[in-house]
Amino acid sequence: MSGFQSPRGLRDIREPDASAFAWAEEHAWSAALAAGYARIQLPVAEDSALFERAIGGTSDVVTKELYRLAVRSEESTPLALRPEVTAGVVRAYLQHGMRSEPQPVRLVTVAELFRHDRPQKGRYRQFTQFDIEAIGDAGSGIDIEVIELGTAYLRSVGLRDIEVHLNSVGCPTCRPGYLVVLAKHFAAVADRLSPVDQARLEENPLRLLDSKDEVAVAHAKGAPRFVEHLCADCAEHDRAVREGLSIAGVTVVDAPHLVRGLDYYTKTAWEYLLPGEQGQQGALGGGGRYDGLVELLGGPATPGVGFAIGIDRVVLALQERGLTPAPQRPPAVVVCGIEPGSVGMRIAIASELRASGVSARADVSTRKIGKQLESAVRDTAIAVIIVEPDGSLSLRDLAAGSQAEPGARAMVVSAAAQLARTQGGQ
Ligand code: HAM
Repeated sequence: MSGFQSPRGLRDIREPDASAFAWAEEHAWSAALAAGYARIQLPVAEDSALFERAIGGTSDVVTKELYRLAVRSEESTPLALRPEVTAGVVRAYLQHGMRSEPQPVRLVTVAELFRHDRPQKGRYRQFTQFDIEAIGDAGSGIDIEVIELGTAYLRSVGLRDIEVHLNSVGCPTCRPGYLVVLAKHFAAVADRLSPVDQARLEENPLRLLDSKDEVAVAHAKGAPRFVEHLCADCAEHDRAVREGLSIAGVTVVDAPHLVRGLDYYTKTAWEYLLPGEQGQQGALGGGGRYDGLVELLGGPATPGVGFAIGIDRVVLALQERGLTPAPQRPPAVVVCGIEPGSVGMRIAIASELRASGVSARADVSTRKIGKQLESAVRDTAIAVIIVEPDGSLSLRDLAAGSQAEPGARAMVVSAAAQLARTQGGQ
């Protein structure tokens, strides 16, 4: 073993987890593509300033968790590994003039992200998100569409009892008023708050609702609810979203103190949680409306809404419930050979099988045929083709334990393919 280990919080994902990840990701792409979302792939690093401006200079994600890359030369701008997708999608929306396309622009990506967080179960320094963004529509209908899409995805992978915890975090018209009453509420315990929470009270009292500190948590219970301080426009939006979700069959749990860890949210904010789970740490995903973000990043005033679901947490939840799909079967057919000189032919036959849609590999060794058969059995192959010294082929049915007389190549290859197909080992 070398002395090297994978860095803390950055994992190797091996079977059977790797298959579960791939399965959850494929489901994500197909759920979004089927609903009319277009694929987008973004760079893994962006200007640090993009994240600072979009996510918020005082958020944990920017102050503590951003992986900043060393500046390589004087003319290059400081870059950071992406901690989330939304900022990059909005940057791309503006850069590529997507405003001139029919609105909303619906985009989907599955992306690897980096946050220098304290690693623990469900929280890693590299993780994967299924991210959806719909930019350019201010109506409540698109919120309902996006929230339902995430719910349907989570149900489709087997998490049928998923709940949507929903709140409204208002807009620049009503938020200042709410922040005043919220700050007043926490001011009563200001001297008992932790130094971090005292700073939050000054800078952004909304974050106190998400504090892990005992005093803040206890005092948050009786905190004023944003829904009671929304302006008429936000209140009507919130009402319409809830009504539409109920008709669309999405279970909504009222979460009057739900706040998100990123600063760009306005109006609708939600999290996907399994019953009994609480707070952002336990969330499978979260999202919200971000009507000020495009403008904040230098574009014209443009509304947007989206979510991200953590694939790592989805896989964890499936594992805990014993719902992970079985890893893919190894090759259905193994092509063995008696003569060392037949390796090229074995490879050609395996390739021909794969081209016809049947999984196959060649045994490329020069071991005794018995050893080759043993490893085919260990791989749970369905059939073995043996290349005989005279170039003819024999077919062995591993389930039946039978072997046919040697025959011509085309006939035996097609019989092996047939056997693999009838036994479901494509
Ligand atoms: P977020 O709540 O920061 O939102 O992350 C969304 C999800 O990503 C979380 O609910 C969780 O499942 C997963 N996640 C976050 N951090 C980690 C981590 N360290 N390890 C494992 N999984 C993690 C956003 O990122 C927003 N950009 C979502 C959004 C899209 N809002 C609008 N559009």
